[in-house]
Amino acid sequence: MATIIDGKANSATVIEKVTAAASALEAKTGTRTGLAVVIVGDDPASHSYVNSKSRMAKQCGFHSLQHTLPEDTTQEALMALVAELNADPAIHGVLVQLPLPKHLDSEPVIQSILPEKDVDGLHVVNAGKLATGDLDTGLISCTPAGSMLLVRQVHGADLSGLNAVVIGRSNLFGKPMGQLLLNANATVTMAHSRTKDLPAICRTADILVAAVGRPEMVKSDWVKHGATVIDVGINRVAAPEKGEGKTKLVGDVAYGQVSEIAGAITPVPGGVGPMTIAMLMANTVIAAYLSKGEPRPIF
Ligand code: GUN
Repeated sequence: MATIIDGKANSATVIEKVTAAASALEAKTGTRTGLAVVIVGDDPASHSYVNSKSRMAKQCGFHSLQHTLPEDTTQEALMALVAELNADPAIHGVLVQLPLPKHLDSEPVIQSILPEKDVDGLHVVNAGKLATGDLDTGLISCTPAGSMLLVRQVHGADLSGLNAVVIGRSNLFGKPMGQLLLNANATVTMAHSRTKDLPAICRTADILVAAVGRPEMVKSDWVKHGATVIDVGINRVAAPEKGEGKTKLVGDVAYGQVSEIAGAITPVPGGVGPMTIAMLMANTVIAAYLSKGEPRPIF
């Protein structure tokens, strides 16, 4: 049976460190760490994520701002708000929740966030720093950073000699995750929807990371005995066993059968999910430290 990698416990440790770091910065410089979260429209799942982010920011002792804009917000109005937050010295992190409503183009919005306030790590400057192996001066996308922290719990910081397979090639997750694994000396394969014989590729993995958004796609015969499995999927599916009309969350990995084969595995919920919010808080306090010329705290 696999060891369960506890995202809740690991995220609580990160949050404790973030809270202490924010408090130390305030004591030393008088600067309170500030996070602004922007949400456009009424998608209930996005609202639920954003509320959790705002709540956690307050818990960390941050100055926490939430801007809720109507569904019919224009590109210009959204860009104007980002410009205002870029110019606000009380704000160290700006996050625009994705996806945006269909009439808005997210890329120019993300690229208009100042790189030093881009706590999502999606600006080309931050993505480029990661891609060139500079992990010290930029901000790293939260879900990959959180997943990497969980990988380190199992394997330590040096992944020399280990094969890692990432399924999914998004800018938000797959690409930065691949870069982090590569930076830690893993031999990395990036797999995606056009990959031939995906199960065979996955079976080569000592570390298998699934981020495809397909409920329970990764089966036990895709997994090498003893492998570490990081499940980034959060899929809501029908759960008739809980009663009529009930739903539940499952990952991209068939947890029940894969946990018989894997050496270590993240559950859904309670695995990578809580780490994403914790790393957003970590990025925000890092941004606040850097804005004051202070050395970045390490998480
Ligand atoms: N939507 C789902 N995940 C994320 C994330 O990490 N950042 C942003 N901005 N939006 C998201």
